[in-house]
Amino acid sequence: MKANLVLLPGDGIGPEIVESAKSVLEVVAKRFGHEFQYTSCLIGGIAIDETGDPLPQDTVDACRQSDAILLGAVGGPKWDDPNAKTRPEAGLLRIRKELGLFANLRPIKMFDQLADASPLRPDIIKGTDILFFRELTGGIYFGQSGSGEVDGHESAYQSMVYSVPEVERIVRLAAKAAQGRDNRLTSVDKANVLEPSRLWRRTAARVMADEFPDVQYDVVLVDAMAMHLINRPADFDVVVTGNMFGDILTDEASMLPGSLGMLPSASLGDGGPGLYEPIHGSAPDIAGKGIANPLATILASAMLLRHSLDLNEEAAAVESAVQEVLADGLRTADIARGGDSVSTEVMGQAVTAKLA
Ligand code: NAI
Ligand code: MG
Repeated sequence: MKANLVLLPGDGIGPEIVESAKSVLEVVAKRFGHEFQYTSCLIGGIAIDETGDPLPQDTVDACRQSDAILLGAVGGPKWDDPNAKTRPEAGLLRIRKELGLFANLRPIKMFDQLADASPLRPDIIKGTDILFFRELTGGIYFGQSGSGEVDGHESAYQSMVYSVPEVERIVRLAAKAAQGRDNRLTSVDKANVLEPSRLWRRTAARVMADEFPDVQYDVVLVDAMAMHLINRPADFDVVVTGNMFGDILTDEASMLPGSLGMLPSASLGDGGPGLYEPIHGSAPDIAGKGIANPLATILASAMLLRHSLDLNEEAAAVESAVQEVLADGLRTADIARGGDSVSTEVMGQAVTAKLA
């Protein structure tokens, strides 16, 4: 197939890790007979330096015309001045909005080879492989807010709103993903207390019964889910939840594997291009040293192949290649636990060698 990919390297270690992931995509294209075209565009601090805008219009246009987007990271101390007119992060928030990306996907997968990096006991973490779907553009973070007075005291409020279509579309995406995995979906809410959660629960149950009767479906309250993630993380397959619950639970879950440099994420909308990135930031402390772990970004490119290009076999090949290099004992400094470590480039080349 032919695909048009936009690369947004961004700041800090962004350019180094995106370069590694691009080499992996090139090898995938060669091995499986695809033609990928790449356009590199500016975002974040480097875009502010060169154009004054963290998201230049050229970047938005290129992204809109693309099939998928691979992002490194944005931000760094250089742009941290609180009095600055604009900040790198504003570019990231705007591109998500421009593309209508309402679903944030975060796989939390424990690589057996790294089991001793987890803060949990190996027997508890073993086999953990969860795919979170967090609703990204609705809920309390976007609800009406204000301040006033209650009983003579200063007060503030923020309302949580979900509409039926907002719930339907993310539940559908999550259920489809479950069909390609272990065929199990868990919806997380707080329906014992919150009205929007009751609407969420009713809507999700209807979508699942009408459209996905084959998918094993259950619901869990968010406070219980916070406990289950620590106690029995290996029991879950796909998890779908609202914006705030997803924010908190995915940050909790991202600590379980014990290696930030291994975790990818994706943001998807309705049909248009998806945005793929590592969950870590621009790591300014190690930028330019050639030691960043490229595996999160390489795994993000596997998600790109699967979710935007429908290339499941190719995605699985990339993921297996990553597992093989870990099994060979290759480690970047962040996952070496004091042992021998290799550079970004060597790690990237090891993955491409397994694929080729
Ligand atoms: P960070 O994730 O950049 O770094 C946290 C720690 O993890 C650092 O010690 C870093 O060296 C290490 N680390 C992160 N990724 C690594 C990798 N691939 N390989 C090896 N080590 C890695 O978070 P921090 O320090 O809080 O933020 C740094 C900058 O990144 C800030 O400007 C922040 O705003 C930005 N940021 C951007 C994000 C994005 O672009 N999506 C997300 C999070 C932070
Ligand atoms: Mg968060």
